[in-house]
Amino acid sequence: MSNLLGWIDQRFPLTKLWNEHLAEYYAPKNFNFWYFFGSLALLVLVIQIVSGIFLTMHYKPDGATAFASVEYIMRDVPYGWLIRYIHSTGATAFFVVVYLHMLRGLMYGSYKQPRELIWLFGMFIYLALMAEAFMGYLLPWGQMSYWGAQVIISLFGAIPVIGDDLTLWIRGDFVIGDATLNRFFALHVIALPFVLVFLVIAHIIALHEVGSNNPDGIEIKKNKDANGIPLDGIPFHPYYSVKDIAGVVVFLFFFSVILFYFPDGGGYMLEHANFIASDPLKTPEHIAPVWYFTPFYAILRAVPDKLMGVGAMFAAIALLFFMPWIDRCKVKSVRYRSRIYKANLTMFVISFVVLGWLAMQPATPMLTLMSQLFSFFYFAFFVVLFITSKNENTKPVPDRVTS
Ligand code: HEM
Repeated sequence: MSNLLGWIDQRFPLTKLWNEHLAEYYAPKNFNFWYFFGSLALLVLVIQIVSGIFLTMHYKPDGATAFASVEYIMRDVPYGWLIRYIHSTGATAFFVVVYLHMLRGLMYGSYKQPRELIWLFGMFIYLALMAEAFMGYLLPWGQMSYWGAQVIISLFGAIPVIGDDLTLWIRGDFVIGDATLNRFFALHVIALPFVLVFLVIAHIIALHEVGSNNPDGIEIKKNKDANGIPLDGIPFHPYYSVKDIAGVVVFLFFFSVILFYFPDGGGYMLEHANFIASDPLKTPEHIAPVWYFTPFYAILRAVPDKLMGVGAMFAAIALLFFMPWIDRCKVKSVRYRSRIYKANLTMFVISFVVLGWLAMQPATPMLTLMSQLFSFFYFAFFVVLFITSKNENTKPVPDRVTS
């Protein structure tokens, strides 16, 4: 074995890569629950790619046969139902994991210097993930696939001057049709997975360049022993590789419960209207996007003017890109930040969840008013943060990590 390894090492830096990224990558020893979600996101990415490959073997990207091919997968292909439900449950799991992963970043200030690029790559991953999920949702060619895409694509029509041509260009037709389905299929199975994998690699390279942050927000590289090893660091492998496996087991337990007992997630993961074949002549009574898009959809609906609504929706996402510059406080972790910051972040999370719920309800005047209120709180987070973070009343940060 060691001869073989030596042979490989002379031709490819296998041991070097192993050491740099695993055995001699020193991670802070105080990682907590919130640090499971990066490796879980990687796991879900692999689950999606593998289950997606098997779905593609039986799926037909054609307006006339797409819906039937999904029914065929569900009923006739051996374990086809399992492959499909793994993939649809995986989509929800991906967003649950990524939202918690992002929240961790916000809590511990992981987007701050020197980790701005890790955050930016993360935000591009998030954008690519949203595009990936949106395009994947068209493929079953059910009522919600069809009308959801219709609503979202028509939003681009609100853009002055180029709007109409742009929607036509995206759809490839005057209505959502075969051309749209074909291009979404190509983007969903080839282009976007490529982009995602590339971005994830860049994300991790950037992370390993500067090293991980931690729940105390302390730079462990500042305290090294005589050999240059961080005093508060432990090798990623075996310590965190083993710890992450524990997270994977717990995750797979919950994943399996949903997969085998509630695969449609009560209509929130696979909407009931999507079990009916798409019909361009019949609009479903209530069109709402899948849960992971709903907070932004609520912001869109909260603004009466269509163009302003679209602008607000894009701004809600775009502002997150600028977190490293909006937050001007030197202290990273929420543990040592002011009460104002804690209250602000809590209100942000509550607004996000409430907005998500609101978009799933019919737009009554009362609920529309609530959407406006919580959209206001959502944006207020960034404004309050920018104003208060410069001279924030922080607590003293310890020199070494606390366990
Ligand atoms: C496919 C999606 C993603 C994958 C596979 C992924 C993977 C990872 C992994 C493996 C880590 C190191 C382990 C950990 O700290 O949990 C990490 C760290 C990080 N990720 Fe992601 N990530 C993804 C999406 C995102 C998104 C959407 C953001 C934010 C916009 C983000 C921001 C960060 C940050 C700031 C860190 C450094 C955290 C720290 O050191 O405290 N990631 N990511």
